[in-house]
Amino acid sequence: MTNKIFTLTEKSTGKSITLDQYDSSIGHNVVDISKIASDLNIFTYDVGFGATACCESTITYIDGAKGILQYRGIPIEQLAEKSNYIEICYLLLFGKLPTQSELSDFNDSVLKATQIDKKFIAFDGLFERDAHPMSMIIASLASMAADKNNNVDIHSKESRDSFCINMIGKILSISAAAFRFSSNKAFIPSNDQLNYCSNLVNMFFSDNAELTLSNTITEKAIDILFTLHADHEQNCSTSSVRLSGSSGVNPYASIAAGVAALWGPAHGGANEAVINMLDEIGTTDNIPKYLAKAKDKNDPFRLMGFGHRVYKSHDPRATIIRKTCHEVLADVDQEDNSLLALAIELEKIALNDEYFKSKNLYPNVDFYSGIIYKALNIPPNMFTVMFTIARVSGWVSHWKEMMEDSSSRIGRPRQRYTGEYDKDYTDISSR
Ligand code: SDX
Repeated sequence: MTNKIFTLTEKSTGKSITLDQYDSSIGHNVVDISKIASDLNIFTYDVGFGATACCESTITYIDGAKGILQYRGIPIEQLAEKSNYIEICYLLLFGKLPTQSELSDFNDSVLKATQIDKKFIAFDGLFERDAHPMSMIIASLASMAADKNNNVDIHSKESRDSFCINMIGKILSISAAAFRFSSNKAFIPSNDQLNYCSNLVNMFFSDNAELTLSNTITEKAIDILFTLHADHEQNCSTSSVRLSGSSGVNPYASIAAGVAALWGPAHGGANEAVINMLDEIGTTDNIPKYLAKAKDKNDPFRLMGFGHRVYKSHDPRATIIRKTCHEVLADVDQEDNSLLALAIELEKIALNDEYFKSKNLYPNVDFYSGIIYKALNIPPNMFTVMFTIARVSGWVSHWKEMMEDSSSRIGRPRQRYTGEYDKDYTDISSR
């Protein structure tokens, strides 16, 4: 629905324009400012896009004030309790819950897509063993984008859908290959008799007889974490996928752009940074010292796993993960439990601190996810890779939605230029 209700007047010239408002089905409505540049010769200015909607979407809804997250209209709490990651992938991609036969066909297609040609995971010679696995994932995707057999016809629905399914399958094998290469162990191919998360556990650990957690606990915990990490509307990495994809590039390259964006510690890299931070804090006695550092504007230290651009009351995913964390840690050794105890104490003190309260800083999805992954024997440098595997479902769903939206066009923000202008060139001999 459109109501012309906003009028913007430039006072110096008295020129006015009317702006259209478009209603959303729920949440913030939007004002269409696209003609401001042509009609008033001015740009809007919104560093970090805190007030800018860049597209229409029907995939994920967030109410940051109330701590609500829904995929295709279904609350995350229900999905975490009743659904599973593969069903979530279908829901995100196709906009509805699948029937039993649709789910079974989809599951088969994804598992088939986990088979990978070794040339895409030939990390030996390219990387040192201690290279960050996120860089291996990017390289692998780049090689897939270059491969002629992976040529996606972005104008064909069938080709786009098959890319999305292929990507969900391939990311599992690429990630397992990166893990195995980092651990100096041979790649274990996927087994299409196993489901998605059992395959992950099998490809990562099936030759490790020393694991203490049962596969059932591990698979269930991973399935819940993947469900919670699957999508989060226009976050930094998803926006990177959309922006790069808007140029019409091969979508494997767009997904690589998403992986690069997710890697940063302010985004998906936070789960790894949380564990490093907890290790550095060491004991509860040190918490006040680190909280003081986090509050000090002159100190770059920030409380990792705290704060969120959108959630200003709580991150509903953190609530679910906290519970899962307790369940998983009930079955593991003392070291991981002491990490959890430290995290709980840090959370308690921060939530009662005036600085964190006044800025609405709460634990986000990644405050507890690293603790679970550590307990599941996933090394810290793989935490963000685990986030990547899950988020691929969100990225491909957004890429598909963008490609099917006839109003999409290449992303091209403008700027407020503050540099010099109209200067004469100085010859090198006179500088
Ligand atoms: C994810 O966007 C998504 O949806 C992302 C995500 C997803 O699923 O895709 O949810 C996943 O990326 C989770 C976030 C993981 N990152 C971290 O945990 C890193 C620590 N958090 C922060 O760096 C920060 O809170 C962000 C990046 C999450 C949000 O940044 P914003 O929205 O730009 O907030 P801000 O930096 O403007 O902060 C507002 C104020 C500032 O102080 P003032 O300048 O107003 O005095 O709060 C302070 C900040 O300095 N602040 C913190 C803090 N986070 C914000 N102070 C101490 N510790 C922190 N963690």
